[in-house]
Amino acid sequence: MCGIVAYAGVRAASPILLQGLRKLEYRGYDSAGIAVHRGSAIDIYKQEGKVANLVDSIGDYQTDPSHQEAHLGIAHTRWATHGPPTQVNAHPHPAGDGRIALVHNGIIENYRSLKSKLEAQGHIFLSDTDSEVLAHLVDSYYDGDLFAALSAALKEVNGTYGIACICADEPGTLLVARRGSPIVIGLGENETIVASDASAIISHTRQAIYLDDNDIAIVEGGKVDVRTLDAVPVQRDLASIDWSEDAAEKGGYDHYMLKEIFEQPEAIRNAIRGRIDEDRGTAILSGLGLSPRELVDFQRLLIVGCGTSLNAGLVGEYAVENFAAMLGEVEQAAEFRYRNPIVGSKDLVIAISQSGETADTLAAVREAIDKGALVAGLVNVVGSTIAREAGRGIYLHAGPEISVASTKAFTCQVSVLLLVALKLARGRRMSREDGVKISRNILGIPALVQTVLEKNDAIAEVAKNFVECAHMFYIGRGYMYPVALEGALKIKEISYIHAEAYNAAELKHGPIALLDENMPVVALMNRGPGKEKTVGNVEECRARKAPVLGVITEGDQEAKAACDWVIEVPDCPHYIATVVATVALQLFSYHVARLRGCSIDQPRNLAKSVTVE
Ligand code: F6R
Repeated sequence: MCGIVAYAGVRAASPILLQGLRKLEYRGYDSAGIAVHRGSAIDIYKQEGKVANLVDSIGDYQTDPSHQEAHLGIAHTRWATHGPPTQVNAHPHPAGDGRIALVHNGIIENYRSLKSKLEAQGHIFLSDTDSEVLAHLVDSYYDGDLFAALSAALKEVNGTYGIACICADEPGTLLVARRGSPIVIGLGENETIVASDASAIISHTRQAIYLDDNDIAIVEGGKVDVRTLDAVPVQRDLASIDWSEDAAEKGGYDHYMLKEIFEQPEAIRNAIRGRIDEDRGTAILSGLGLSPRELVDFQRLLIVGCGTSLNAGLVGEYAVENFAAMLGEVEQAAEFRYRNPIVGSKDLVIAISQSGETADTLAAVREAIDKGALVAGLVNVVGSTIAREAGRGIYLHAGPEISVASTKAFTCQVSVLLLVALKLARGRRMSREDGVKISRNILGIPALVQTVLEKNDAIAEVAKNFVECAHMFYIGRGYMYPVALEGALKIKEISYIHAEAYNAAELKHGPIALLDENMPVVALMNRGPGKEKTVGNVEECRARKAPVLGVITEGDQEAKAACDWVIEVPDCPHYIATVVATVALQLFSYHVARLRGCSIDQPRNLAKSVTVE
């Protein structure tokens, strides 16, 4: 999420910063800015929109003497998390009458309490961001030593950060720091180029230092001094970067889709961070703006969305019925609008959309608002139309999803929907004890996903058996049915294999007529309710010569014996297995598509954001 570039050296900073921002634009592109140290002051330039807008607004930085004389600077391209994508919310953020400027990636979890404290001391905030709080916190500690001020500030911060910071009174000094959000320091001749990922530095140097968590680096020209927050000097290894520029943007992965699949533990961690009260066994969803008293008044949770977001919604429906014993329904957004739905003030409507711009989902939001329902968005892109029109909701914080095929958005949507179901359940009959159990299971999702990612090579091997397929079936029951739908959607989109998903029980009511040795079946057989019956359905498939790939619970010999191939995933309750099994199927689709030579990140006929009906 977001991109950072910083420069200290002998060349003009502005062209290097702007070139770096262009390289990082894939990480976030809703606003951008630079700050350069000039004379004894810092000048900040910020613009809403793409980096090109910023470049246009700055003018002739290539030859303008004032830009040529600035040899120190920081820059940022933003992907909004706190506050809409506006010029004032763009980084760098100034503090101390513009003597300090700071750019930040990550999320400051305790920014509200820090902000109140700073406001009481007289600090005035211009933006809605958590990052500006950090700039003021540094200023509040500044007494002629930027390192001391930054380290004191960072000791007060909960959350994650990658930071670059400069001070008007310390010409030539750049401070960078990291906790949970990467910072790479590129070493050149009498100069240093810092970035949040290597793509912004490799056109200048291939020699780099990667900061560890809780490191602060003091950069002066080509000199880099890394210290702990307590100012103890530490040695970090010098690395040599051998990626091509294209590979660097994808973090070394061949495709954005694969990168995004592998980002899921972190993305889910961000989506649930600060939203679980483990002790009370409930969720904290302040974006909904609803008290427990108001939440119990709803009689139904109605979820609308399209495609992958719709499939995630189906998991939400099951979870709310299971956890909260409350009526849950999921509706295809376009249908919802056109069939004059029965919806009103007793309904909580959640509109799910990664992009926040899907025309059908937006139309459903408007229809639900017009009918008097309370509407909330479950959206990834901050400031998007659905987020704005819904007026309340829960941001996913999954980071930009570039690949057309949605992956991390789905698993984050499901994780957050489980929190919604938990919240609704705790306001009804669910005990604290059960709430604690579910909270812990949700907190465990990132680690479980990580274990599935470690099976990537084994899944690639299994995928080899499906390269020539023309058709496939996906089957599952209960919670595993939406996973079958999502698995089939993913393989269709990126490998162009025709795939259909059924509730396993439905096979016998027609589709079974199509089964033969040329119709492989992917069966979701994770241990849990309905597993035994699905094993029975798998036997029926194999009796008709259909080859079967089972997604099974690790060590389940009974399920394994029923299949031709298996992907084993960790043991977990079915509501968690929805995420875990989906990750396995994402990798499976990816490898089938790769082996078929398909255009994975931009499949034919598709668009990332469907803004037409
Ligand atoms: C599938 C996919 C689409 C989207 C759908 C809704 O991989 O990406 O099915 O899920 O177009 O998009 P959003 O979530 O942006 O509303």
